[in-house]
Amino acid sequence: MIADLQHLEKNALAELEKADSEDSILAVRTKYLGRKGLLTGLLRNISSVPAEERRSFGKRCNEVKELLEKNIEEALLRRTEDQKAGMLAGQQIDVTLPGRGIRAGSVHPVVQIRREICDIFAAFGFSVVEGPEVELDYYNFEALNIPKDHPARDMQDTFYIEENMVLRTHTSPVQVRIMEKVKPPVRILSPGRVYRPDSDVSHTPMFHQVEGLLVDRGVSFGDLKGILTAFLRKIFGEDTILRFRPSFFPFTEPSAEVDIRCVMCGGKGCRVCGQSGWLEILGSGMVDPAVFQNVGYDSERYTGFAFGMGLERMAMLKYGISDIRLLFENDIRFLKQF
Ligand code: FA5
Ligand code: MG
Repeated sequence: MIADLQHLEKNALAELEKADSEDSILAVRTKYLGRKGLLTGLLRNISSVPAEERRSFGKRCNEVKELLEKNIEEALLRRTEDQKAGMLAGQQIDVTLPGRGIRAGSVHPVVQIRREICDIFAAFGFSVVEGPEVELDYYNFEALNIPKDHPARDMQDTFYIEENMVLRTHTSPVQVRIMEKVKPPVRILSPGRVYRPDSDVSHTPMFHQVEGLLVDRGVSFGDLKGILTAFLRKIFGEDTILRFRPSFFPFTEPSAEVDIRCVMCGGKGCRVCGQSGWLEILGSGMVDPAVFQNVGYDSERYTGFAFGMGLERMAMLKYGISDIRLLFENDIRFLKQF
């Protein structure tokens, strides 16, 4: 074993001498000192050394180990010094090149679209309010006419903080919070983050919605259609093709979802629109009398409409982004295009 050790020491030092790159130096380190290295192996087998020699053998092993470690450190250091010297000698960098400069950031596409939407609705007389992201079950579901065990909860199953507290699945709870506080007329817009256990090319677990609510005397479905059409034409252009599709939400009656012609394929059908040619961008409807009752509004005197739209979806359509997840990867090359 002592002979093995001497042999090993000689070889290791010779190999280190020859190693001329960082990788080859590190390879020597792994070969001898690594977890499965040769020296480590010798030490592991120390029980096969006769008892009276064990002590001195162990000591020698440690000396060799320290020597190798020291030489490897030095070799690595020399490499870096050589590299620096080489670079300074002008072999790899030209110190006369102009500097790289500091790049200015840009506004994230989701923020851009949010600002644009808020501006358009501000012109329609809506004011912007915010609500909490960690929300009581009562506001997220119950007050919106979605009782416990209602099948509509399945569509928006979510992250529970406690039994009666969730990460909100939509911005609709803000409707209730506002109506509890103010008497009609109401015209509000509420942007913010929402959460759902979704993930694919058009769904992320965290996304943004903007909620709108208008309550007054004599508000009709025609008003809803008119405002949403005017809004979508401002965002996507006057010749935008859209459709109102009958739908269901427990807190509106009647309800409609609004789709816009897929901008990726022009309606032919593609991966982004799930071959349908249409992309759903918002849900809407006339506020259900049950919701008015929960907030103490007289549904005989007042009617109203509400809508909720996905900001990422709007940004994707507006800027022609084919995968929603790109919006959250923080890749500067992607973000600086907007
Ligand atoms: C709602 O969330 C209703 N609160 C909307 C509403 C408000 C209806 C007021 C009536 C009155 P929905 O689950 O369909 O509806 O979601 C609304 C929009 O959010 C969708 O049209 C879509 O654009 C967007 N969206 C939904 N899930 C995701 C997701 N996982 N990732 C990104 N966007 C999403
Ligand atoms: Mg929907």
